[in-house]
Amino acid sequence: MSTHAQAVPHRYPNASKSHVPARAVKLGPVSVAPPDRARSTQVSKVGLRDICLSYRTQTGERLLALDHINLEVRAGEFLCIVGPSGCGKSTLLHLIAGLQAQTSGEVLIDGRPVEGPGTDRILIFQEHGLFPWLTVAENVEFGMKMKGVPKTERQEKMRHYLRLVHLAKFERSYIHQLSGGMRQRVAIARALATEPDVLLMDEPFAALDAQTRDLLHDELERIWSETGRTIIFVTHNVREAVRLGDRVVLLTFRPGRVKTEFPVSLPRPRALEDPEVALAARAVLDELRDEINRSLEAEYSAGVKPHIEPGDHA
Ligand SMILES: Nc1ncnc2c1ncn2[C@@H]1O[C@H](COP(=O)(O)OP(=O)(O)O)[C@@H](O)[C@H]1O
Ligand SMILES: [Mg+2]
Repeated sequence: MSTHAQAVPHRYPNASKSHVPARAVKLGPVSVAPPDRARSTQVSKVGLRDICLSYRTQTGERLLALDHINLEVRAGEFLCIVGPSGCGKSTLLHLIAGLQAQTSGEVLIDGRPVEGPGTDRILIFQEHGLFPWLTVAENVEFGMKMKGVPKTERQEKMRHYLRLVHLAKFERSYIHQLSGGMRQRVAIARALATEPDVLLMDEPFAALDAQTRDLLHDELERIWSETGRTIIFVTHNVREAVRLGDRVVLLTFRPGRVKTEFPVSLPRPRALEDPEVALAARAVLDELRDEINRSLEAEYSAGVKPHIEPGDHA
């Protein structure tokens, strides 16, 4: 079994006609599907058709943020989206969540156009948005209560999902009594308890320390495999994307377009430090670097000093 990343560029069938077509680059052994967890089907769950989005800036100009995005996400697929900061990753999730409307194009869920938020989709982000005045149990029950789920059923589900994230013992705790990783697991339990088909995750682990993030990767992969949900996971961390995704989609710097797709066929479970994961991540990173350079050039030419943290290296 080859462990080398395979670079097999070919045209992406849905790529926009008017733009440079996205490519697909296969990562990992070509013919080996994840053996025990190949649950992702061929049925389209989320369809993005020619999505464009532009904003009006304060000076009245229009800024094109998303440019002819075409993407099909299969039911049960774990899709990761990477791209430089400001390329429109969060915006894309907001469109799928129905929290914002595109300028043109269509977002489809099960073939039907999205017309606003729905209980079939849920967005989880870095600031987990838990209520500090409620207990863990009450936080998890909150969405169900809003949906009018009867109390007994609510409590059963709350216990089920807290067990799933290994927090059964913390039902009565308040949020401030939990660590960052535990809070994010409560947020995941709360999201799952509303039983959405699609989980939209916007850099959910970016603020966590490395060990906690590793644990949450394992938990999320297990939960995904046990519940069969479709996950669209945005991250700027390429290794995290390869660790988790069935496929990694790379967006270009402004305007955001699908540049390359990387199907990842490495067997699961994976670990961040697996050499195959590192090798596959390198292929993604090589292409991402071009986009980061473009974003830096844009910052320079706009006369904005790039923000460089101590310890940053090129
Ligand atoms: N409400 C808004 N008004 C104007 N521009 C916006 C607004 N929201 C986002 N943008 C711009 O759209 C682009 C994409 O933003 P975003 O989706 O947050 O990027 P990412 O999540 O990839 O960092 C950025 O250039 C950002 O400045
Ligand atoms: Mg963002």
